[in-house]
Amino acid sequence: MCGIVGIVSNSEVAPILVKSIARMEYRGYDSCGIATLNGAGIEMRKDVGSVEEVALREGLGRAHGRIGIAHTRWATHGGVSRENAHPHLSCDGNFAVVHNGIISNHQTLKTELLNRGHRFLSETDTEVFAHLLEEMYTPGVSVEKVFIRALRRLEGTFAIAMISTYDPKRIFCAREKSPLILGIASETYFTCSDVNAFLPYTRRAMVLEDGEYAVLSPEGYSVRGITDGELRTRQILEIDWNMGAAEKGTHPHYMEKEICEQPEVIYRAMEVPQREIAALARLMLQARRNVLVGIGTTYYVALFGQYILATLAREFVPALSSDEARILGVIDPDTLLVAISQSGETFDTLEAIHHAKAAGAQTAAIVNVPGSTMTREAGLVIHQNSGPEVCVISTKAAMAQMVLLIRLATEIAYLKQGCFTGDIRILKELAYLPKLVEVTLRTQQRHIRDLALRYHNKRNWFFLGRGTYAPIAFESALKMKEVTYLHAEGMTAGFLKHGTLSLIDKDMPSVFFVPPKEEKDLYDLTMNSVEEVRAREGIVIAFNFDQTGAHFDGEVRLPKASPLIAPLLQLLAGQLLAYETAVVLGRNVDRPRSLAKSVTVA
Ligand code: AGP
Repeated sequence: MCGIVGIVSNSEVAPILVKSIARMEYRGYDSCGIATLNGAGIEMRKDVGSVEEVALREGLGRAHGRIGIAHTRWATHGGVSRENAHPHLSCDGNFAVVHNGIISNHQTLKTELLNRGHRFLSETDTEVFAHLLEEMYTPGVSVEKVFIRALRRLEGTFAIAMISTYDPKRIFCAREKSPLILGIASETYFTCSDVNAFLPYTRRAMVLEDGEYAVLSPEGYSVRGITDGELRTRQILEIDWNMGAAEKGTHPHYMEKEICEQPEVIYRAMEVPQREIAALARLMLQARRNVLVGIGTTYYVALFGQYILATLAREFVPALSSDEARILGVIDPDTLLVAISQSGETFDTLEAIHHAKAAGAQTAAIVNVPGSTMTREAGLVIHQNSGPEVCVISTKAAMAQMVLLIRLATEIAYLKQGCFTGDIRILKELAYLPKLVEVTLRTQQRHIRDLALRYHNKRNWFFLGRGTYAPIAFESALKMKEVTYLHAEGMTAGFLKHGTLSLIDKDMPSVFFVPPKEEKDLYDLTMNSVEEVRAREGIVIAFNFDQTGAHFDGEVRLPKASPLIAPLLQLLAGQLLAYETAVVLGRNVDRPRSLAKSVTVA
């Protein structure tokens, strides 16, 4: 789970390489490095730390050359150390490689290479590739041939980029089950794990498929199959993402910026063509069985979908955590699996799609990142168009996905019942949501900051809700855990009395997701749970919409909203509470410890 970049150009590449890996730090940020071909040989600089720290300490941007590769790492094989940071060199220093993925047969290859006298400097699986290239190289054989032969020895997953002194004007890169995209600018070519890396320089992209390799030079690029060597041609994608969206602007953190972008992101989710929503709705109605899958935040989004499909469309569509979908999902050719993913690269969710396809099922996906693996592997794709989400913590992407699921449920209800009065009302309510999000941000963020100041020292939290508010409570607990490192448990409020009530004492805050009063049943039941906590001297914080008459230790009063969109305003409040608490605690908000945004390993 790392980010790789390669750039070949007619001018110095190191400053752009540094910026490009900085834009992919959400993929990993424990160490980084670059290697360039400077005319005399390979110049490599790398160390432990964020791109900013290492760039300053090691002068990454000062490496010379018009061709180079770079890497930002999230350790899998080998601890966090300078030696394990990429790039890795062959013994003779003539080959440098960066890699994302896992070379599963690295042990066998390493033993072989050690026996041939190679010396290894790191504990990584990647380093074998650099030595393999050196081992296979003989003068007179092209570097391209050596690259392909070495690739054919690899098992596992890889997105790999390589430079060599023997062919100093070209970058070689290849892909097998780890994302790799080419960026095409004028006389400058990129190979990167993610379009984010090159968006300030070009919006023209070409996605490599599994089993393909590419060769880039200032004059152009070619793509071929690793096994057959056949030339592959593919359409160039125009990435339609707002440039400014990947810059922090005046916000101290990307997380705050992305939370504040939600009004715009909701508009964009509303602009997704109705025909795309209708196509998915029709597929779902045709299938005998539907399942929604996602993981982490997107599992909770899927769970929200389950509730909303049940309440609006009277359809039972179970939400499964992607990592368990293979076991739990009874998937057959009459099934449609709908995956939800911000990155479109999450291993567990891709595996769920592969499993469904192998069972003969149909697949669909709601995805944010254009050109990502999922957009190519799922049968039907809805692009949510939320723009780049840089913070490791997902906020705006989840909001957009929930809006799309409401639209989907509305469409299914419409198709089932013909034109019913509800659908127009629902869309009108959704159209009003951006305004309410703006009002909430304006009126509640400071107040939520006060709550964070008051309660940031509480080590354990409950997040409790019922009905459609339950997945929002779960997701808010996840936000809290991810960014503050405090323990937070999301639970249905009705579950509380079946054991966990024993944890309530005067040191334990419970955040209640109170529905608007018009949802009388849910409201009454939630307020019963509030009383159960208060009776045991627990701290009660309420996200609510009405005057309740109850005593709360903390209250976030949200603008009046209909039951349909009320959960989404509470989602916003949960995001803000996690964010403000993390800021008070001095956490690394955009890059919390141990996390990476796209988890591309099992
Ligand atoms: C979100 O805040 C987390 N970083 C994580 O749970 C994430 O949602 C999960 O890994 C799924 O990612 P995806 O949406 O890119 O598939």
